[in-house]
Amino acid sequence: MGIDPAWLPSAAFRAVGSRSTLVRGSGPLVDTVRAEVGAACRDFGGRVEHGAGDDFDLLLELTGDTDGTDGEGFTYAREDGRTTVTASGGRGLLYGLFHVVRLGEEAFRGSTARQTHRPAVGLRMLDHWDNVAVHPVMGQVERGYAGGSLFWRDGRARGEPERVRAYGRLLAACGINAVAVNNVNVHATEARLLTDRIGEVAFLAQVLRPYGIRTHLSVTFAAPIVLGGLPTADPLDARVRAWWAAATARVYEAIPDFGGYVVKADSEGQPGPFAYGRSHADGANMLAAALAPYGGSVHWRAFVYDHRQDWRDRSTDRARAAYDHFVPLDGEFADNAVLQVKHGPMDFQVREPVSPLIGAMPRTRLAVEVQATQEYTGQQRHVCWLGPMWSEVLRFPIQQESSVGELARGGLVAVSNVGDDPYWTGHPLAQANLYTFGRLAWDPGADPGAVLDEWIGLTFGREAGAGPHAGVRSVLDGSWRTYEKYTAPLGVGFMVQPGHHYGPSVDGYEYSPWGTYHFADRDGVGVDRSVASGTGFAGQYGKAWAEVYESPDTCPDELLLFFHHVPYDHVLKSGKTVIQHIYDTHFEGVAEVEAAREVWASLAGAVDPGRHARVAELFEEQVRSAREWRDQINSYFFRKSGVPDERGRVLY
Ligand code: GCU
Repeated sequence: MGIDPAWLPSAAFRAVGSRSTLVRGSGPLVDTVRAEVGAACRDFGGRVEHGAGDDFDLLLELTGDTDGTDGEGFTYAREDGRTTVTASGGRGLLYGLFHVVRLGEEAFRGSTARQTHRPAVGLRMLDHWDNVAVHPVMGQVERGYAGGSLFWRDGRARGEPERVRAYGRLLAACGINAVAVNNVNVHATEARLLTDRIGEVAFLAQVLRPYGIRTHLSVTFAAPIVLGGLPTADPLDARVRAWWAAATARVYEAIPDFGGYVVKADSEGQPGPFAYGRSHADGANMLAAALAPYGGSVHWRAFVYDHRQDWRDRSTDRARAAYDHFVPLDGEFADNAVLQVKHGPMDFQVREPVSPLIGAMPRTRLAVEVQATQEYTGQQRHVCWLGPMWSEVLRFPIQQESSVGELARGGLVAVSNVGDDPYWTGHPLAQANLYTFGRLAWDPGADPGAVLDEWIGLTFGREAGAGPHAGVRSVLDGSWRTYEKYTAPLGVGFMVQPGHHYGPSVDGYEYSPWGTYHFADRDGVGVDRSVASGTGFAGQYGKAWAEVYESPDTCPDELLLFFHHVPYDHVLKSGKTVIQHIYDTHFEGVAEVEAAREVWASLAGAVDPGRHARVAELFEEQVRSAREWRDQINSYFFRKSGVPDERGRVLY
C-alpha cells in the first residue's frame, strides 16, 4: 500500500475543494495554503480565485506583514454567506485553513460571529527517539513500534522528501510546530549531526518548513570532547563555551530558523555537568548562551535519577529524584533554557500522579513531556487511546490557581509514535494519539472526547448517521482505562518484562537497580511514599495535594499503591478490598478487550479492508496479551495473599 493519508484523506477536503476560495497574501506558508486549496479544488471541482473580485465562498487572508510565520492565531467568521479566516502570520493562516477543513460543510452554513483562535502553548513539539544508525539493542527507533525511522536508515538520512512532507502536513493539521529529529540518547553517529552532518538536518528542516514546523536536534553534552577534541566538556570552561558558540553559529548558517537543542544529561548513562562538579543550570545555561543570539532554546530534560540503585536501599526513591535535583535550581535557568519534565515522577506508566516538580518551579520555564509512543501502554499492539490520560494531566490543578497545562509555558512535548510503517503508527488506531496530542497541546483544556470525534470524522468520514463513527469511538474511548485494568494495579506501575517492557512480569524489576519496586509480600503491596512513615515523596506537593496523598484515607484509589503500602484487605473508596479490586479489574479488563474486538469485527465493510484487517489481527494479540496479564497478576496476588476470589473465578 502507499502511505496512509491518516486524518487528511482527500474526502476531508470536500467542503473546501468544492467551493471558490480567495487566498490573499504572500510568503512561503501562504503558498502552502494556496497549494492545499488548489489540490482540494482539483479533487472536487472548486476554484482558487486570484483576482480582486468578490465572487468567492471562502477568504483566507494574511493581514500582517507579508512573510510572518510566527503569528499562530487566526480569526474565523461567517457572515453574509461568506466564510473568512484572517491571520497575521503564515502559520496562523495554515491553522485557519485546517480549522475550516475540520468543520467541513458546517463552515459554509449559517453564520458565525467572529471568533479568535490561538494556541495556549507556544511550542508544541514531537521528540523522535530515532537513531541514525541502528543501535544493537534499541534498533533504529528507540521504543519505536511503527517500523523504521521516517528520517534515517542504516546510518544515513533517507532522503524521501515526500514522506517527510506528508508527515509535516499531518502535524500542521493538528497544530504541532516543532520536531526534534534524533534520539535523546545521542550515540556516536547521531552526535555528528551537530557538526559535519548538519546538512542532513538542514534537509529535514527545509522539507518541514512549509508546514510551519521548526527543527530541533538532540545533542550530547560531551560534544566538545567527542566532536571537538577538547579535553573537557566543563560548561564553565572558556574553550568549551567557545566551541559551542562556534558549533551553534554553523548550525544557524545551515538552518536559519533552527529551534534549538534537546539534552538528556546525567541521565541513564548520558554525560552531563555532574562530572565537572557543575549544576544542571550551569550546563543548560551554557547551551542557552550559545543559542540566544539566534533566538533558539535549549530543552533540558529533568529525567535525572539514580539508575544504579541498590534495591535493598529503602532510603532512595526514584520518584523524588527530579524534584530533589531541580527545585533548588529554580530561578537560575536562562530565559531560553526550558526544563523539560516528564508528566509523572517515574516513567510514563499507565497511571502516575502528576510530577510535583511542575508545581514547584515558578521561576523556570517548564515544558511537559508525555509519551505518545506506547512503551508502557501496549506498544502499538494494544488499542490504548491516551487522550483522557493526557487531558487529566493537563487539567490537573497542581497549584491552587494553575493547572499543568497553564504551567507548561515552555511547551508541550510528546515522544513520537511514528515510523515508516504505511499507517505511520503501526497500529492504525494509534494515529489517534498523535492527533490528540497536537490538539491538546493547542488547547490543553479541550474535551478529549471532542478531539476523538474530530479525528474519527476526518479519518473515517463524516457522513451523518451512517458509517463506523460510533463503533470506532466505542473501541477507543475507554481503551486507556481498560488497559489500566488488566495491567499493574492502582498506580503501582511497572510489573513489565525487563528490557523491552512488553507483557507482564510482576517481579521483573523488583530486585533491579532501576528504582521501580512494588514491595508485594504476603500481607500487602505498594510503596510507602508518605512523609510520616515513607520516602517523603508526598511532601513534595503543595500543601493541599500533599495532604490528600499523605493518608490512604484521602489518597485517590487509582493512586493508592503509588503512595502507600496497604494490606490486601484494605478497603478502597469503591467499597472493595484491594485484593478483590485486583481480581475484578483484571477480569473486567479482559472482558472489555474481548468486547472491543467484537465491535471492531462488526465494522468490517464500514472501514477500508486493509485497515480493518490490520486492526483485527492486532486485536488477537491484545486479547492474548490481556489474558496473560490477567492470569499472571491475579495468580501472583492470589499466591502471595492466599485470599480467594469472592466470586470463585479461576485463579492459577
Ligand atoms: C525510558 C525509556 C528509555 C528512554 C528514557 C528517556 O526510560 O525506557 O528508552 O531513553 O525513558 O526518557 O530518556
